[in-house]
Amino acid sequence: MDNQQLLDLIDRMTLEEKIAQLLQLAAPFYEGVEDEGQITGPMQAMGITDPMIASSGSILGYARAAGAVRVQEAHLKKNPHGIPLLFMADIVHGFKTIFPVPLAMGCSWDMELAERSAEIAAREAAVSGVHVTFAPMVDLVRDPRWGRVMESTGEDPYLNSLFAKAFVRGLQGDNLKEETERVAACVKHFAAYGASEAGRDYNTVDLSERQLREYYLPAYKAALDEGCEMVMTSFNTIDGIPASGNEKLMRGLLREEWGFDGVLISDWGAVKELIPHGAAEDEREAAYRAIRAGVDIEMMTSCYVHGLPELVREGRVDEALIDESVLRILQLKEKLGLFDNPTRGASPERAAEVIFSREHRDAAYEAAIKSIVLLKNEGGVLPLSPEAKVALIGPFASSGDILGPWSWDGSTEDAVKLDAALSERLGKDRLIVAEGCGIERGTDEHLLAALKAAAEADVIVLALGEASEMSGEAGSRSDIRLPQAQLELIDSIAGLRKPTAAVLFNGRPLDLHGVYDKTGAVVEAWFPGSEGGAAVADILLGAVDPSARLTMSFPHSVGQVPVYYNHFNTGRPLGAADAQVRYVSQYLDAPNDPLLPFGFGLSYTTFGYDGLKLSSDEMTADRPITVSVNVTNTGARAGTETVQLYVRDIAGEVVRPVRELKGFVKLELAPGERGTAVFTLGEEQLRYHHSDLSFGSDPGRFEVFVGRSSLDTLKSSFILKEN
Ligand code: BGC
Repeated sequence: MDNQQLLDLIDRMTLEEKIAQLLQLAAPFYEGVEDEGQITGPMQAMGITDPMIASSGSILGYARAAGAVRVQEAHLKKNPHGIPLLFMADIVHGFKTIFPVPLAMGCSWDMELAERSAEIAAREAAVSGVHVTFAPMVDLVRDPRWGRVMESTGEDPYLNSLFAKAFVRGLQGDNLKEETERVAACVKHFAAYGASEAGRDYNTVDLSERQLREYYLPAYKAALDEGCEMVMTSFNTIDGIPASGNEKLMRGLLREEWGFDGVLISDWGAVKELIPHGAAEDEREAAYRAIRAGVDIEMMTSCYVHGLPELVREGRVDEALIDESVLRILQLKEKLGLFDNPTRGASPERAAEVIFSREHRDAAYEAAIKSIVLLKNEGGVLPLSPEAKVALIGPFASSGDILGPWSWDGSTEDAVKLDAALSERLGKDRLIVAEGCGIERGTDEHLLAALKAAAEADVIVLALGEASEMSGEAGSRSDIRLPQAQLELIDSIAGLRKPTAAVLFNGRPLDLHGVYDKTGAVVEAWFPGSEGGAAVADILLGAVDPSARLTMSFPHSVGQVPVYYNHFNTGRPLGAADAQVRYVSQYLDAPNDPLLPFGFGLSYTTFGYDGLKLSSDEMTADRPITVSVNVTNTGARAGTETVQLYVRDIAGEVVRPVRELKGFVKLELAPGERGTAVFTLGEEQLRYHHSDLSFGSDPGRFEVFVGRSSLDTLKSSFILKEN
């Protein structure tokens, strides 16, 4: 249908029918959904009537090929205008083939990999009947107490923007109408959900507009520049106004300034939450604020269907606002080809063929391999020696809870477990497995069995971590150490003084007290997904070199949080040549730097850096400079180094961070091989938001840092001159 036909269709709809297009409910409300049959209960409780369901615009969280066809066909029979439903679901890091959690994918610094993971997730979801996924989540994160950091690619706006684009490309492809095995993307959570105060989920966000624009907004904007079809609001307030009723943010910035004319959906229940937030007295007022803000779809509450008809009749809400929202929703349906092909990609045959296929699982394996970060390796503990007898001990030794949150259709039974993968590679005789303790509780019996296993082995691998539900939504923690039972297990094992490596399965940067100081090697496996065990085993055995680098800092302790690499210097920086002993910006009981900084990660080989060169020590707007550095593989194995380029603007109208990532290059080097990383750095990369929010650069001196992490670099400098 062309736009005029869509407008004509809207003309034929009653006000109630139009408002119902703005309603999104979960699957149990719909006929044809198997195993549910509970339609009447929730409907009555919410005052949802049959006509509202018949005219509703979208369904949430249903992804079953045959069922999706059934639901759509039943719906088309009931909908007075034959308007198909949009099927939306959270396909965040895979559908059935689960990829590492996004924070882990971030650590790969690999956009092709991210794009491919999204393409596979889209394919499995689309053949299961999904049209839109609530991804990518691109919230910038600095506080590991927040459980949802696992959904983000990390703390850097530049890297997050690259990943946002890669995920959108992978999900959407080039043409949603023709490519029926892609899905529309919905970037979330707009805006700055990641800045929830004190890392407590759903909490207040209060940032200066400048900070919002400089750090938090770029990744959403990048997703939209890549053509992302939808945006989801966030739960939090921004400058005292909940995002879902925030006219300035949504209608002002998102729609008018950025020109976004796609669909804006509220987060789950977020329109009604305007009431407890204290932004609306009742559901009608909540509806009033949300529709004025430009929220098109209300997810899972019924303020719109109950409140908007009267608001329009009273003349408080212009019907044109409703028409606008309906048009955007219909346009998306048209883009997806649903008017001609209402069941789109849904196909039980294709589902049987592609879901969890070998090809998809191989891609998940590769992603896991490239996301695992080696955090420590002293005394040659890793890779495991080919003759060693290994004791694998810990609650994650045999656990399938390695998929992480947001893996609804993933199967923990089908996940490759670490014990199985190691046993396959080492042979049964060389592996002894013991649980050691549960995730949160231990028993003497378990501990004794673990100590016995450890006594028989040459080397110990501890498989530790957080249960899935300890991170993700509503998974905030105030103490981000491993649970006490696991710390006690480490303590007991450390007493044996045998070579010990810890492998961590978890969703956030942890406080590694009791782990980092007690084991020779630490491997951050994150939640590595369906092929996790295989990937970890191959890393442990050195079949593959670990190449991932952290995209979120690991604090020494929670007291440092938020601790992130691109911070300001302060007027009394620690370590300045003329600094006083006491009156500097510091803690009395902890360092300022994190335990492990952004960009950090080890390999089994080592890399030496020398010869940092700038093509000129002057830059102008039309004359970028080239930055190059030599990198030599100084170890005995092949490896991949991620060479990172940072800058610091020495004096700005607004003070600038001590480091800002501006580029990175991956070099794959054989033992002894020397490579050169070359970067182009131009004036446009030095721009930032000034106090009047204008975006530009300040002439003057800049420092350039190139190296293996945000804290381990060579340094040079140049002057930015006006043309
Ligand atoms: C989450 C969103 C998610 C939505 C739909 C909400 O609770 O915050 O990220 O997309 O539910 O499942």
